[in-house]
Amino acid sequence: MNREKINRLAKILRVLRSGDPGTSISGTYLAEQFGISRVMVSKYIRFLEKLGYVFDKRTGLGYTLIKEPDILHPVEIVSRLETRLIGRKYHYLVEADSTNDIAVALAIEGTSDGTCIVAESQRQGRGRLGRVWLSTPGKGIYMSLVLRPDIPPKDVSQLTLLAAMVLATTLRNLYGFDAKVKWPNDVVINGKKVAGILSESQIEPQRVRFIIIGIGVNVHHRKEDFLGPFRYLPTSVALEIESRVRDAAPKRQELFCEFLKNFEYAYNSYLTQGWESWQKTLNELSMVLGKYITVDTGKEMVAGIASKLSPDGGLIVRTPEGQIRTILVGDVVHIYLH
Ligand code: BTN
Repeated sequence: MNREKINRLAKILRVLRSGDPGTSISGTYLAEQFGISRVMVSKYIRFLEKLGYVFDKRTGLGYTLIKEPDILHPVEIVSRLETRLIGRKYHYLVEADSTNDIAVALAIEGTSDGTCIVAESQRQGRGRLGRVWLSTPGKGIYMSLVLRPDIPPKDVSQLTLLAAMVLATTLRNLYGFDAKVKWPNDVVINGKKVAGILSESQIEPQRVRFIIIGIGVNVHHRKEDFLGPFRYLPTSVALEIESRVRDAAPKRQELFCEFLKNFEYAYNSYLTQGWESWQKTLNELSMVLGKYITVDTGKEMVAGIASKLSPDGGLIVRTPEGQIRTILVGDVVHIYLH
């Protein structure tokens, strides 16, 4: 579908959504607003129906939008997106090997800062440290952002933390969860992993060429979708909502667009005011700071108190022997709560 048609459908959708629930919008009004014929209006409505939108159609009254599907189709996303840069270039795929691979290829071709790639499912969703990312079709958000920040290469891991922090904040604001960031790349609710981030970058000695922030969020997954083995207990937004006996089902597009909006704000402020301005929020949202932890660095296990984050996004651990270790790459495997 070309960009013009996507934009037109997104605008029509916005008009149909406007007004109180149950409001009818007449075909004549839509035709006049968009300078198109009534026949064209019904064609657009049929297209929206194919995407899963449900209308009450009454002769003489017009169209009432009564149900919206849970989709990440460009028409839906363009109709909701409130950003200026992040996600404005949007690539949507029904299936991909890995959205991170597509993002890398597009970045090499020169795609602009803020480009976003989303797939409904991934054949080879990748996690950190060579793991597989469960990408059940239609149930999660599988997305990659291409970023081109003007920062020194040593700071790239700050952006992974920034994205994790924004996602945790978004989950808190939308659903009231006690979402936390588990250094360096996980978002957890009640000790269970709801999302993970895989960042990949191309750097030159003095500058960052691009960074890919790949994010996987479990949204509609049921317990039976999580066929192990998992290193951490997984959960989903839907399961956590149900555990609090709230009936509102999550909508992926709402979470996705809200995350992009919040991320754009954080990214801009990070670029203009620096990393320090986010340290406080990150400390508050961190699940590990102040706790006795064990980190698997791939080469050794380091145990001690996670005392703070280093300026470049690493984790500073004070061992029982009094050593201060800065871990740049690793996996927190145990958090001792008492
Ligand atoms: C992790 O927790 O190990 C990171 C998981 C990252 C998964 C996302 S899903 C979208 C993007 N494409 C991938 O292949 N991986 C990331």
